[in-house]
Amino acid sequence: MGGRYPHMLLILILLHGANAAIDAPVEKWQTLDGRPPLVIARGGFSGLFPESSKFAYEFAMTASLPGVVLECDLQLSSDGVGFCRSGLTLDKSTLIAEMYPKKDKTYKLGSEDIHGWFAVDFTSDELINNVTVIQTIFSRPSTFDAIMGMYTLDDMAGLHPQQIWVNVEFDGFYRDHNLDIEDYLLKLPKDYPIAYISSPDISFLKSIGGKLKGRAKLILRCLADNVTETSVKKSYGEILKDLKSVKAFASGIMVPRNYVWPVNNNLYLLPPTSLVKDAHALGLEVHVGSFANDILTSYNYSYDPAAEYLQFINNPDFTVDGLMTDFPPTASGAVGKH
Ligand SMILES: *[C@@H]1O[C@H](CO)[C@@H](O)[C@H](O)[C@H]1NC(C)=O
Ligand SMILES: *[C@@H]1O[C@H](CO)[C@@H](O)[C@H](O)[C@H]1NC(C)=O
Ligand SMILES: *[C@@H]1O[C@H](CO)[C@@H](O)[C@H](O)[C@H]1NC(C)=O
Repeated sequence: MGGRYPHMLLILILLHGANAAIDAPVEKWQTLDGRPPLVIARGGFSGLFPESSKFAYEFAMTASLPGVVLECDLQLSSDGVGFCRSGLTLDKSTLIAEMYPKKDKTYKLGSEDIHGWFAVDFTSDELINNVTVIQTIFSRPSTFDAIMGMYTLDDMAGLHPQQIWVNVEFDGFYRDHNLDIEDYLLKLPKDYPIAYISSPDISFLKSIGGKLKGRAKLILRCLADNVTETSVKKSYGEILKDLKSVKAFASGIMVPRNYVWPVNNNLYLLPPTSLVKDAHALGLEVHVGSFANDILTSYNYSYDPAAEYLQFINNPDFTVDGLMTDFPPTASGAVGKH
């Protein structure tokens, strides 16, 4: 290791995390169904590889528990092909701006003007053959930048994961551009193991829920508790005060960590909320994300990412049903030791 492979040490740290705290056995998982919590790989192993790339998904599968769920943030190209990539624009996580310097646009998202390069302005051929993906977090390795094209949901399904999680953020934007995400999802081959569809948009969940016929579980993806949901015009914090109303259109929720374990201003953990127990009492699953080895969220974990996972799955009162993470091998270590 040394000059020639400056990233290798970092990569090893990212791969293994620290393992100090994961030796206490769990008697019985307190998930909704009593099974071990899911490890949900956000864009694959995005802590090491560019998110939602071939390597990110392949390594998530080989380096995690066998049941690892592969997550795809869905975007559609102009010809209606589904790609996995987070956000709405492509220029921060790909080299599209270098390849097509004049194809940037400004579009409205709600009342906001968004400038950038958008999947809806490119054909699937262009995105697959001429646009390469890069790491967006500068402290993570750039070793794998610019060597892989954009990856489709079909490509990812071709890896044969046991379960796929599709997250849909901008249904209304695509409809403004004559593309229908709901229709795309309903027409996917029946043998795709789409187990979960999540969205922060309640109207989208309600609409697709009537047509899915139970093919996938619908999950309300809650943003920060002070952010307003666009269709019911209430904050996510407010919406979760009435979990019964959520149960009417979803099988579960995905929430930021602090909905379950809040921290104070000095990043020390406060006592947990009753959210997981309350949701479980109504039959709602609770998934938490997004975890990452390289983001400090509370000093109580002593810089040990495994300790953080265990706080959510191995405490006397509850186990969350899923952990969404950029580092699925570390989460798998925390779940799988037991
Ligand atoms: C990809 O880029 C090359 C070189 O600029 C160009 O010749 C080709 O037509 C592009 N392919 C697509 C599908 O856009
Ligand atoms: C929500 O709260 C965060 C942190 O307290 C703050 O920075 C942000 O501006 C707030 N956002 C809104 C929409 O009020
Ligand atoms: C977090 O650490 C602080 C300081 O040591 C301690 O007072 C607090 O009880 C801890 N919180 C939890 C939930 O363990």
